[in-house]
Amino acid sequence: MAMAASGPGARGLYEGYVLFNRVLCREHLHLRVRLPGGFPPTRPGQFIQLGCRPPDSALADRPDLLGGQTCWRPDAPPRLGQLELRQATALLRRPFSLAGRADEADGSALLDVIHRVVGVGTGWLAELAEGDPIDLLGPLGNCFELPAGKSLGLMVGGGVGLPPMFYLAEALAEAGWDGIGFIGATTADLLAVDWEQGAAGVLADGDPMTSVSQFSRFGFPAVVTTDDGSLGLRGRITAGLERWLGVAGADAATRRRAVVYTCGPEPMMRAVAQMAQEAGIDCQVCLEQAMACGMGTCQSCIVRIEHTPAQPDPLTPPHGHTPYGRAWRYNLACTDGPVFPSYRVVW
Ligand SMILES: Cc1cc2nc3c(=O)[nH]c(=O)nc-3n(C[C@H](O)[C@H](O)[C@H](O)COP(=O)(O)OP(=O)(O)OC[C@H]3O[C@@H](n4cnc5c(N)ncnc54)[C@H](O)[C@@H]3O)c2cc1C
Ligand code: FES
Repeated sequence: MAMAASGPGARGLYEGYVLFNRVLCREHLHLRVRLPGGFPPTRPGQFIQLGCRPPDSALADRPDLLGGQTCWRPDAPPRLGQLELRQATALLRRPFSLAGRADEADGSALLDVIHRVVGVGTGWLAELAEGDPIDLLGPLGNCFELPAGKSLGLMVGGGVGLPPMFYLAEALAEAGWDGIGFIGATTADLLAVDWEQGAAGVLADGDPMTSVSQFSRFGFPAVVTTDDGSLGLRGRITAGLERWLGVAGADAATRRRAVVYTCGPEPMMRAVAQMAQEAGIDCQVCLEQAMACGMGTCQSCIVRIEHTPAQPDPLTPPHGHTPYGRAWRYNLACTDGPVFPSYRVVW
């Protein structure tokens, strides 16, 4: 999928419709949305806030349903038939990383999202079919950096942390980098990927192989791990990374040109960051902190980030210190992040 050429652009509300919503594995679906009006430029690591209920425009001719009115007016009786009162409805939009993007000749944009069904919003998304209307806010957040002088991306994605790695793989390929995917799940049928020659071709030795289509389409191999050993190397995703660091990564020149990119559950990212630090490799983490507005308003997505300004500023003092004396300030995962250098995160 081609990516828009320039950097992050202005955010806005966009309406489109579903091109497909196909099952990837037991709990994940791959949703592709077409936005006929186009979408600002995006970069891997950025996310969108999907409306996980019918867009207001789709309800305009249904006054019995939500119809854009989310507050009861003082001069009007409550409409007790409203959608959100009759059934569990995701009133707030839900954040999802971009898993890919393409732009068509007519100016429309195709956005890819991979979503895991965990609750009311993702339950609604799972029911979407071709042609259904959907709206979204975006693009939001910052993006992964490709530092000068580096040329090898180690993309470590666990569970719902995989989608931004797929988009990143494309950016690395376009920049002429090499890449290796490290993917993991508790068991084989929770791996949200397409297999190049069927899952049966995945070996258990932990060597990178061109088995995962989302990486191999850019010429990148992948290491597959499952906690229960049902596919690939048995163990956590860190077992795959550790093995690679001990074999191919043992070469100092290889480590010098590498960057670790990771997204997934916090304990996983923390362990990956620790491994990268011990190996002397830069690491960027994508913190998918639970969030509400996604735009810096509600303060629900705070994370503790190391605060070491060159010049102390009395207007931005540290919010706290770790037991080891590291100064930190609260940052917002939605606008300051979600991507941070791992050494700055106070876990
Ligand atoms: C920046 C960002 C990017 C994300 N990208 C993806 C993605 O690409 N694919 C994907 O499947 N999911 C992604 N998520 C998580 C996704 O937003 C949540 O799973 C979704 O909001 C759940 O909505 P729901 O209404 O189905 O669940 P709810 O009914 O709201 O909640 C169901 C359960 O999930 C928990 N939950 C909700 N959000 C999170 C979270 N962020 N972390 C941990 N637990 C949570 C709730 O506490 C609750 O226990 C991302 C989150 C963030 C912040
Ligand atoms: S989600 Fe509202 S401030 Fe970050």
